[in-house]
Amino acid sequence: MSRFPEALAIAALLACAGGAAAETLGLGRPALPEEIAAWDIDIRPDGMGLPEGSGDVATGEELFTEKCAVCHGDFGEGAGRWPVLAGGVDTLKAEHPVKTVGSYWPYLSTVYDYVHRAMPFGEAQSLSPDETYALVAYILYLNDIVDDEFTLSKENFLEVEMPNAAGFFPDDRAEEAFAGPREICMTDCKTDVRITARAAVLDVTPEDGSAPVGVSLEGDGAPPAPAAEPVEKTEAEPVVVAAAEPSPAAFDAALAAEGETLFRKCKACHKVEAGAKHGTGPVLHGVVGAPIGQAEGYKYSKAFAELAQSGATWDEAALHAFLEKPKDFAKGTKMSFAGLKTAEERAAVIEYLRSVSQ
Ligand code: HEC
Ligand code: HEC
Repeated sequence: MSRFPEALAIAALLACAGGAAAETLGLGRPALPEEIAAWDIDIRPDGMGLPEGSGDVATGEELFTEKCAVCHGDFGEGAGRWPVLAGGVDTLKAEHPVKTVGSYWPYLSTVYDYVHRAMPFGEAQSLSPDETYALVAYILYLNDIVDDEFTLSKENFLEVEMPNAAGFFPDDRAEEAFAGPREICMTDCKTDVRITARAAVLDVTPEDGSAPVGVSLEGDGAPPAPAAEPVEKTEAEPVVVAAAEPSPAAFDAALAAEGETLFRKCKACHKVEAGAKHGTGPVLHGVVGAPIGQAEGYKYSKAFAELAQSGATWDEAALHAFLEKPKDFAKGTKMSFAGLKTAEERAAVIEYLRSVSQ
């Protein structure tokens, strides 16, 4: 093996150490301003680095459909496993936070920088400043941060308020943490244990309302209270009651959990909680087994109104057919969703819908 690569590495190190060394070695030359400019593409939160230019939501939508929707979905809802770019507001404290530009990103400058620097995936840095402004405007629109008439430009860039801007702050623990000694509880810190939340999907919360299993779901980090007696009780009575004696309410928790993840694709348009407000699509609480097109107070398409008249119901077969290819199942439906390709995905989502309707 030649020793040359090693020699080169050392020379490079010396070159980094100082221009003087580089000159002595006769290697390289100082970078030209143009060369530095070509690399210097970062955009800072204070707007530093933004190029001249502007772009509106409508132009952004066209560009997005053409260059981004294959991966990120028409509405930024994310196709398959590609990242979601919109929605997720109020999920940051949830078990599965949906982190998007709207729900999570504190600085608009990061969106501009990221899109210009790295997207479209595989064709990075192919977008002009105007195109990037337009795409960023459209992503803001998808996140309900601006309206459809909005034009983003270098001039108004800093006026856009990101919803989670206040969610980030400088880490001042080094100065602040030791404000004074605190009493830290180490034993028997909680005397009464109450159930404050129920793990509905996994169905692990005992139903009989008797003594809890020694786990506080309050999440304050306190150790669970001693619970010798209830633990014995759970041994006698298996927690997975549903599997032991199947009832109409039984469902497959693992499959439902998979469905919950997949349901992210639906969340932009559907809520599942009983009594929630309809979105672009109707609330899906209790939809499995229910008559088609009967959610109260929702205005369905003509196609769905006709299905509703026929008295058809959402049995497994109908749901599978609809979720595979919505437009084939109900020609003229206003559900703009390409469909879930595999039967397993569909089964998981259906199981999830069943589980949240208990
Ligand atoms: C071929 C698929 C593909 C295409 C096309 C594509 N992206 Fe992406 N996008 C990705 C992937 C993959 C990531 C995540 C990259 C990573 O995390 O390293 C991503 C990440 C992003 C993110 C950051 C998401 C986050 O929350 O971390 C934004 C914003 C984004 N893309 C915008 C766009 C825009 C705008 C376009 C069109 C100009 C586009 N993308 C085209 C695949 C794609
Ligand atoms: C872009 C928005 C959108 C997305 C994404 C979407 N839907 Fe829909 N969905 C709708 C609309 C709109 C309707 C009403 C259809 C009509 O009236 O033609 C609907 C109707 C339905 C219905 C029938 C409800 C009823 O009351 O009869 C079901 C079931 C359903 N969607 C499930 C899903 C599932 C599951 C997903 C995700 C895999 C999903 N949808 C994704 C918009 C959407």
